[in-house]
Amino acid sequence: MLQPFTRVLDLGTGDIAPENRLVRRRLSDMRGAYAEDCDGAQVVYEVFNIDVPETNSELQTCTTRLYNGKVGDEYFMTKGHFHEVRDRSEVYLTTSGYGRLVMATEDGRYAIEEMRPGSMNYIPGGWSHRSVNVADEPLVFFAAYIGDSGHDYGSIEERGFPVLVVEGPSGPEVVPNPRYQS
Ligand code: 6PG
Ligand code: NI
Repeated sequence: MLQPFTRVLDLGTGDIAPENRLVRRRLSDMRGAYAEDCDGAQVVYEVFNIDVPETNSELQTCTTRLYNGKVGDEYFMTKGHFHEVRDRSEVYLTTSGYGRLVMATEDGRYAIEEMRPGSMNYIPGGWSHRSVNVADEPLVFFAAYIGDSGHDYGSIEERGFPVLVVEGPSGPEVVPNPRYQS
């Protein structure tokens, strides 16, 4: 049994003290995610994680700091994944910035929800999820999910999401993804 503990989250930056960064993805790690080629050392997002056992009796909790930027007309976004255990759900709480949460099922349904400070997005089991930063500042959100969920990136790398969020003449637009493998 774990000992109870407390961590402190900086709502503006997403830093969790004591710091425990899990992931830092650069443009060079995002190749293939965008219609346009991308490369280079610019950081797209970072994930800070609270380390607990990956079992179904614990909750994984982490924050994501997704920087602002674009590749072509596509906003900076996370890679996106299904949970390896498909029926595992997740909750996001946005603490800073503005974005869209793109979700999809394996049979091609999709849903888009807004992310803004205070938004609590519920991601039911079976839905893949990707967050997209549509503003000129970092998007920061806290996530909690069942400990044994795991991450399946391969399905998204192969098929993509049914829709993309791109910058249009009057702001963010949702458009069909021409590269989606249905
Ligand atoms: C999770 C969460 C979330 C996500 C990050 C980075 O299941 O861990 O959905 O923490 O991992 O926002 O996104 P990618 O995992 O898709 O790179
Ligand atoms: Ni997830």
